[in-house]
Amino acid sequence: MANGKEGTDQAATRWKDEEYFYPSKEFIAQANLNNKSVFDRFALDNFPNYYAEFADLITWFKPWEKVFDSSEAPTWKWFTGGTLNVSYNCIDRHLAKNANKTAIHYVPEPMNEKTEHITYQELYVRVNEFAALLRNTAKLKRGDRVTIHMPMVAELPITMLACARLGVIHNVVFGGFSSSACADRIIDSKSRVLITMDAYYRAGKLIDHKSVDDESCQLAADGGQKVDTLLIWQRYPGKNSSPAPMVAGRDIVVQDELKKYYGARIDPEHMDSHDPLFLMYTSGTTGKPKGCQHGTGGYLSYVTAMAKYILDIQPEDVYWCTADIGWITGHSFIVYGPLALGASSIMYEGVPTYPDAGRNWRIAQDLGITIFYTAPTAIRALRKVGPDEPKKYNLKFKLIGTVGEPIEPEVWRWYYKEVGKDQAAVVDTYWQTETGGFVFCTVPGLAPMKPGSAGPGVPGIHPVLFDDEGNTLPPGSNKPAHFCIKNPWPGCFQTIWGNRDRFVNSYFGTYNRDRNSKDWRDWPYITGDTAIEAGDGYVRILGRADDVINVSGHRLGSKEIEAAALTVPEIAEAAVVAIPHEIKGAEPELYVSLKPGVVATPDIEKKVADAIVFQIGKIAKCGRIWVVPDMPKTRSGKIMRRVLLAVSTKADVGNIMTLANPEIVDAIQKMVNK
Ligand code: WTA
Repeated sequence: MANGKEGTDQAATRWKDEEYFYPSKEFIAQANLNNKSVFDRFALDNFPNYYAEFADLITWFKPWEKVFDSSEAPTWKWFTGGTLNVSYNCIDRHLAKNANKTAIHYVPEPMNEKTEHITYQELYVRVNEFAALLRNTAKLKRGDRVTIHMPMVAELPITMLACARLGVIHNVVFGGFSSSACADRIIDSKSRVLITMDAYYRAGKLIDHKSVDDESCQLAADGGQKVDTLLIWQRYPGKNSSPAPMVAGRDIVVQDELKKYYGARIDPEHMDSHDPLFLMYTSGTTGKPKGCQHGTGGYLSYVTAMAKYILDIQPEDVYWCTADIGWITGHSFIVYGPLALGASSIMYEGVPTYPDAGRNWRIAQDLGITIFYTAPTAIRALRKVGPDEPKKYNLKFKLIGTVGEPIEPEVWRWYYKEVGKDQAAVVDTYWQTETGGFVFCTVPGLAPMKPGSAGPGVPGIHPVLFDDEGNTLPPGSNKPAHFCIKNPWPGCFQTIWGNRDRFVNSYFGTYNRDRNSKDWRDWPYITGDTAIEAGDGYVRILGRADDVINVSGHRLGSKEIEAAALTVPEIAEAAVVAIPHEIKGAEPELYVSLKPGVVATPDIEKKVADAIVFQIGKIAKCGRIWVVPDMPKTRSGKIMRRVLLAVSTKADVGNIMTLANPEIVDAIQKMVNK
């Protein structure tokens, strides 16, 4: 994995190009997309009109007039003039024919709790009632932001859809993030309402969550953003599962308050296609996460098309995406894409290997799941705890997908053989929080699969690769390159909330020649990843070219971890490296040096570890924390993370004689190799 701004030269090739595997005839025969003419229609010459096909998958209150408007380049506007409502598209429009179809099968973690089967009709009732509460009790209106810090429970999509019904912009924060991370997002999005749940199950423990959000409110207030209303869903309605006391005037128990709104119906707001639907904060090169703003019409059209054509969700399918809704994968491919298609979607509260290695496969068997979408880190973990476990169950997958990080060919083969029983189509989907939906992967009914490679661009996405000097590489160059996309697409985020300059610079800055250009051809989108494109157009992702690291498919900023370490008063400098890890893909290791005069004490590592958990959450825990006498530095004072990475991985440190302090490398090596 690239770590630090190393460019493409050092990016190691992860694995060799592999052989093709072909989807089964049965799969192809039933696929939503199995006619190759789609690639002619979606040729670059037909940009942007080909995207009208995607817009036709959703219901508009007022039809759109123009497919694409570039007048605010590079904030692209899609389907302008049209109005729609996302909750209407995900619920109301299915009622005529599918009111009694299950929208969400909710599986609680404790084995003795019943799976809930929420029909589209019930979803309609619950979303309307909660929307009434948001409007009348919480006084939220179109354009307001609300932060949601909830676990994987059915009340989470209900909350999001109720926001969408009102035109309220939701900002869902991953439930495992700490109070401090939640507070940062409350402050940046200027939310006066926070929605939480009192407790949830994880690996057999009922975890107190309300206390975390009491702290979030406190920290947000310290940072200048008061939360005047904290809405608390109860994990067990009628019972408080958190020891935290209620704060008078601020806290409202949702299920109690909802009684006022039984039977309420809320007309869905007619949103402009370009209005924001939600914010999703993600890590970048700085210590401060950025709020990716996604729109309404373009986003919904795109995720609906991807759910239909790539995940191949059909009316009779039962679909399970195991992501957490707190990440983009959950937004696009648990909530919005599948529900817009009227699919039956699974949500599972807890850990896939709890209480035993078979849990995941039992859920799949018992609910008759046909499409399964997960991350390499989960596949590695499931394989490790029970390589033969899938055999014990009657699994009937037609398609199995993966997202979040590169999947090792060996792990891919296990997935294909044991989970897919040699007949499910494997779809390795490459995309990002920013892209809203898939950008590189195979169309499963049209193209063979290749272990370890995401496919070529999905229909409509046209890649361009640059070398370190900014020259474009010919297609199929087989060289590591900066991976970019030539054309805009409707799922792309609109801006960084409150920081348009950062949006323009980070995603378009390097290869744009004219900041004033209104021509999309001048604005290739920068993914931030390095990749190799083979002769057949398939891409192998090598890793991030920036300071983002990918731990268990979770995106973390090295700078965020370093900034957290630096909140410990004794710490002078901090540097994170990402080292390969059997299950997580990568794991952060942290090097810290102390301020002059500070003596290393045994508790310093713990202080730093605690600061990271407090500032970010347990997901950012470092495998090791090394307290070193000094950092290896260039003569200009830049910390050489490359050298630290080599020390951590016991690799060759290369030529270090040009460093300002080459002797330190030996000292650090001795410490690490002890
Ligand atoms: C990485 C998740 C290889 C990549 C949807 C990207 C992948 C970052 C793949 C985005 C894949 C995602 N193969 N690498 N199939 N999918 N990535 O924003 O580095 O959480 O830039 O979005 O994950 O992570 P994010």
